[in-house]
Amino acid sequence: APPVLIDSFQRRIDYLRVSVTDRCDLRCTYCLPKGFKGFEEPANWMTHAEMTRLVGLFVGLGVRKVRLTGGEPLLRRNLPDLAAALAALPGLHDLSLSSNGTQLAHHAAALRRAGVQRLNISLDTLDHDCFARITGRDCLADVLAGLRVAKEAGFAPIKLNMVVQPAVNDAEVERMVGFAIAHGFILRLIEAMPMGDTGRQAGAINLSRLGMQLAERHALLPAIKGSGAGPARYWTTADGTMSLGVITPMSQHFCATCNRVRLTVDGTLHLCLGQEDKVALGAMLRAGADDAQLRQAIIDAIAVKPERHDFSSQPAKIVRFMSQTGG
Ligand code: GTP
Ligand code: 5AD
Ligand code: SF4
Repeated sequence: APPVLIDSFQRRIDYLRVSVTDRCDLRCTYCLPKGFKGFEEPANWMTHAEMTRLVGLFVGLGVRKVRLTGGEPLLRRNLPDLAAALAALPGLHDLSLSSNGTQLAHHAAALRRAGVQRLNISLDTLDHDCFARITGRDCLADVLAGLRVAKEAGFAPIKLNMVVQPAVNDAEVERMVGFAIAHGFILRLIEAMPMGDTGRQAGAINLSRLGMQLAERHALLPAIKGSGAGPARYWTTADGTMSLGVITPMSQHFCATCNRVRLTVDGTLHLCLGQEDKVALGAMLRAGADDAQLRQAIIDAIAVKPERHDFSSQPAKIVRFMSQTGG
């Protein structure tokens, strides 16, 4: 049988998230604090070739799905070239991208040609002022243009990620539902996770409950599983034209079915979004490790993947920001 990665809780790890840069052109309040200076040194960024080598090792160990993230992945120069190299790895079945959409209009067609199959786009609001308050920049129009171009380029279905914050954008959920229905997007409501000193103020909203209320109001039925097999729980119309999802790390965590690990821009493997466990694969690679040694380091790391995240401890256990690990 071909190799597979299984952790000590019998979870099959077949999904790798790759943060291709920790930089971002936005400063979403729950993700990247204004004035943050701790970005990774360019000298430590894995090159396209190094990333492709590392991802290739994971694919050789049974990883079937890869998602490119950031920071904002479209800030990485020539991202479509990297995407094409990854898409060509034999055994990789699903290549996807999570982006804030500000540069999407310029890159959507090239990403599609390169073999990116699925797009998740952050969109918390349809109000220009609210967008500027959350992200620090008044560029909602660019994101909406990006969505339009991506749809024309053939991406479907596109998922919208909406981090719902009480008293900031919670009043806009219905409008976002309407927008998603009108354009055929899948809307996903997300509870903010506390990372670094961000994401804390918004933790109070229970989206498990809100999701059920919305499903009832719009006559949506629980779906077995949406595409992606990620942490979202979905409801959908009988004809499948509209789907709504919730991602509830705070009110109802989904760690028992976790299928993923994360690689940051310097090649550090993070075993859990909400824990500090990590292995410096990039440093090993640059110190001259061969494929067999790197493969063994991956297998050993997966064996100690933590059971679940811990966002509840005070003071915050996770000191890195979401933009560094890639969500
Ligand atoms: P699909 O492949 O489409 O299912 O993607 P996804 O939902 O896994 O990825 P996306 O980048 O769109 O992330 C959506 C939200 O889910 C973000 O807020 C992520 O931080 C969160 N998320 C993704 N994976 C995990 C995880 O393993 N643990 C926790 N706690 N949250 C996660
Ligand atoms: N909690 C939950 N989701 C977050 N994201 C960024 N920061 C947080 C946080 N603290 C989301 C973004 C993006 C996705 C990849 O991660 O909205 O859509
Ligand atoms: Fe940038 Fe995405 Fe973080 Fe917003 S959530 S600051 S767009 S990485």
